[in-house]
Amino acid sequence: MLLSPQAERNWEGLCSVLEDVLEAQSHRQLLALELGSGTGQHVIRFAQKIPFVTWQPSDITEESLDSIKAYIAATHVKSVLQPVHLDASAPWEKWAGLSHRSCDVIVAINLLQYSSFETAKGVFTGAAQILKPNGLLITYGVYAINGTITPSCNENLDAELRKMNPEWGLPDIDVLRQLAYGNGIRLERIIEMEEYFKCLIFRKLD
Ligand SMILES: C[S@@+](CC[C@H](N)C(=O)[O-])C[C@H]1O[C@@H](n2cnc3c(N)ncnc32)[C@H](O)[C@@H]1O
Repeated sequence: MLLSPQAERNWEGLCSVLEDVLEAQSHRQLLALELGSGTGQHVIRFAQKIPFVTWQPSDITEESLDSIKAYIAATHVKSVLQPVHLDASAPWEKWAGLSHRSCDVIVAINLLQYSSFETAKGVFTGAAQILKPNGLLITYGVYAINGTITPSCNENLDAELRKMNPEWGLPDIDVLRQLAYGNGIRLERIIEMEEYFKCLIFRKLD
């Protein structure tokens, strides 16, 4: 079972955002897909706090899938499905057999800065197909804004990420906004979180 200290610190803030943006739909059962679930800590906490959502965790690494399974087994949460292997950079038809317009919500936490631009493209083209009309795509992370990264701690983070992998780095909100728009998805809201992190709330148009 993997443990991410950062996930232990940020899950509550993320959970509040989810409760807030999903509240209006709490009268019905929703299906949420998590991309790049990592350890599985977030999805377990969200399931414990938000009972009207069924969660489908996913990741590309076996290590993550094993960890998520271990959290499900240890916590006995009923509303988290077994994790699936899903490469977000792949065409949506390869997204673990998920159907067209099957999900109400897609969540990607700290995925876009730790993956290539191909993954960002995959996330938006895939979300356009997998989300129901009016469905939400929620991304969390640190971002560049109009080509600028501030303050210096974020510049350092961007440099560290690029050192780990030249294809990684802070994605630009404006680039994501355009990518989304080209796929029929609108950036609806930016929520400021702790330490310069932000949640971007995108909505798939009808
Ligand atoms: C920085 S970790 C974040 C994990 C978790 N969401 C969190 O915040 O604790 C990034 C995760 O994205 C996964 N990942 C990277 N590229 C991916 C891709 N193309 N498709 C799906 N998952 C990917 C990695 O395996 C890793 O688990």
